[in-house]
Amino acid sequence: MPRIICVAGARPNFMKVKPVMDALEQRGAEVVLVHTGQHYDAAMNDVFFADLGLRQPDRHLGTGSGSHAEQTARVMLAFEPLVTELRPDAVVVVGDVTSTLACALVAAKAGVPVAHVESGLRSRDWSMPEEVNRVATDRLSDLLFAPSPDGVDNLRAEGYHEDQIHLAGNVMIDTLFANLDRALASDVLHRYGLTPGGYALATLHRPANVDDSGMLAGLLKALAEVARQLPVILPVHPRTAARLEEAGLPDGIRLVPPAGYLDFIALQASARLVLTDSGGVQEETTALGVPCLTMRDSTERPITLTEGTNILVGRDPERIIGTALRVLVEPPAKRSPALWDGHAGTRIADVLLAYLAAPGRLRPTDLRQAVSEAA
Ligand code: UD1
Ligand code: UDP
Repeated sequence: MPRIICVAGARPNFMKVKPVMDALEQRGAEVVLVHTGQHYDAAMNDVFFADLGLRQPDRHLGTGSGSHAEQTARVMLAFEPLVTELRPDAVVVVGDVTSTLACALVAAKAGVPVAHVESGLRSRDWSMPEEVNRVATDRLSDLLFAPSPDGVDNLRAEGYHEDQIHLAGNVMIDTLFANLDRALASDVLHRYGLTPGGYALATLHRPANVDDSGMLAGLLKALAEVARQLPVILPVHPRTAARLEEAGLPDGIRLVPPAGYLDFIALQASARLVLTDSGGVQEETTALGVPCLTMRDSTERPITLTEGTNILVGRDPERIIGTALRVLVEPPAKRSPALWDGHAGTRIADVLLAYLAAPGRLRPTDLRQAVSEAA
């Protein structure tokens, strides 16, 4: 059976990689879990392994934080010898973080097939580091697993071959459904003194929102205004923590450490309203049927607007406040996109293993050996 490297590095990778790994292993593949080390705090990393039942990484690259170039380069330098040593049949990368692109680039240049899970999403905002990662990772990938039809449309428009593109559904929702009962048993509401349906949950960590102190101050002001209606709880991402002092914190917003996965799902499920700039939270609120205001000017997940509970509200504080007050009275109806059904991981594993088993398909390493023997 094939040996497949699955890469994870940052918070939103862990819940995406788990269902793919499980499905590959259930079908007999040898999976090597490689952790790049992009996220490393207990609250950004360890808690997800515990909450998701994810086994410890087989290899840890220990690359840590840095500028985009530093981080990309460190991951590449550490991942390349691993690919040489392990000679995998394929590398699976998920999402849009720096680790995703860095490992895809190494694998593609080593001649190893790359499978991109969460392919085809486009915000069309090239100032987002994730948009660069998405477009470049897709270009380096052999198999493109889109979570929704808009992703398929984007890939077709960019000229990818039909046999590369697979509408697989949403792996993040696989993990949500697999863990929902355990999450709902969390005592996090009790610990924070919250009542179901009686609070708003917020997250903020996009560089465009938090790295500029004026922008962050405006968004916090909007959250503080919402907090006059109902408690607002904000689990603080480390990037944002570093900026909060400068922006100043208005009264009324309750800051807490980043939440573990089960606690955060519980907080979303019982929130009256979620205000966020996260990618994954837009999807989870749609699957849970919880109203979500996305404090950004664009989204790479438009299906959550057309077939979910998400509203792209922008970043103008007055507009955020006005929309929040309206949504508290008139919440959007619950809907959920097709194929967000808990089985995306198995569809991906089936396609990937069939691709690798195709008759006449040589492993890249076998090919190199055949060429050198012929020479
Ligand atoms: C990264 C991803 C982003 C994703 C987010 C999820 C990229 C380009 N961005 O953004 O798409 O939405 O993760 O959370 O890959 N830090 C800690 N402890 C940690 C990790 C980070 O303190 O465990 C701090 C460091 O100061 C670091 C900063 O957070 O410099 C930013 O971390 P980084 O991984 O570069 O980007 P994120 O903003 O987390
Ligand atoms: N999440 C979490 N604790 C938090 C905030 C988010 O467990 O305090 C989870 C959330 O449920 C989702 C994922 O992290 O599964 C989203 O990651 P994040 O918002 O960091 O990144 P993005 O999706 O924006 O890339």
